Amino acid sequence: MVKNSFLKCPFNYIGGKHKLLPQLFNLFPKDISTFVDMFGGGFNVGININANKLIYNDQITPLVELYKYFQSNTTENILNYIHTTIKDYNIKKEEKEGFLKFREAYNKNSVKNPLDLYILISFSFNYQIRFNNSREYNCPHGTNRSSFTTNMEKRLISFIEKIQSQNIEFYDYDFKDLNYSILDDKSLVYCDPPYLITNGSYNDGNRGFKNWTLKEEKELLNILDELNKNKIKFALSNVTEHDGKMNDLLIDWIKKNNYNVETIKSDYSNSNYQKNSKNSKNDINSKKNNKNKEVLVYNFKKQALQSTLEHFD
Ligand SMILES: C[S@@+](CC[C@H](N)C(=O)[O-])C[C@H]1O[C@@H](n2cnc3c(N)ncnc32)[C@H](O)[C@@H]1O
Repeated sequence: MVKNSFLKCPFNYIGGKHKLLPQLFNLFPKDISTFVDMFGGGFNVGININANKLIYNDQITPLVELYKYFQSNTTENILNYIHTTIKDYNIKKEEKEGFLKFREAYNKNSVKNPLDLYILISFSFNYQIRFNNSREYNCPHGTNRSSFTTNMEKRLISFIEKIQSQNIEFYDYDFKDLNYSILDDKSLVYCDPPYLITNGSYNDGNRGFKNWTLKEEKELLNILDELNKNKIKFALSNVTEHDGKMNDLLIDWIKKNNYNVETIKSDYSNSNYQKNSKNSKNDINSKKNNKNKEVLVYNFKKQALQSTLEHFD
């Protein structure tokens, strides 16, 4: 197995791409001017990218506020606030009372300290982030399992240091409202949206925010076509197949536009299906051996070939 020394989001983000970074980064171009993490989530991808400028976007406003707070406050002040608040509210992993009182106060306060969300996540079931439809935090207490551990604190410190050392802009827009006109041919737009065909069985999507439907999927594919027309590189993570369900819209779109597809494997062994390859069609359509077929769709030549081949059009 390839050693994964990439920085990891300091909480558990469902659908986070940390484990798959070695495979993704093997495909990404090396020389990136602006990297857009269009569905940034736990920021596992963007935080590890070397680029002149990073643009993080996600619709979950409190999460974006948290990252902005990490960007503009000292590590010392952040850690002091976390430790003091945990003590003041008597938040413990063994009993839920302190956590529930703190969660209630968080939901009642109209003006919130963004760090309170991080404290809640640290003591939540599976370290998850989740809101109900009224935008109240509603993740249950992670009794006897979740707390702000030394290991988490270390991860948080590294994450804050990295955020503060990079040129990053944070946005909480719907993906359609991002300004793509500032990008050039050395930019890379990375998309890790909620997966249309997996949403029924496990929701990695809205967490109380706007849902992901066929409409959003079509709008996203249109934006990617537009980027392609303007010679801007994109890479899209998705699944073409899940539990016998096929994402026909996505498959037809890939075939129609002849985009490149790489199968992404969780055991890190990599198989390459380049554009125009003999296997490419079979790979997209195959139902054999794989209940979940994760792919990266992209419109550029993969990194290893960059030195000799130009961006295709
Ligand atoms: C699979 S997660 C991304 C995980 C991320 N790549 C990581 O490694 O941590 C998908 C993200 O898309 C966001 N999202 C869903 N619909 C959106 C929309 N319409 N506009 C912007 N973000 C959206 C969700 O909030 C969620 O964080």
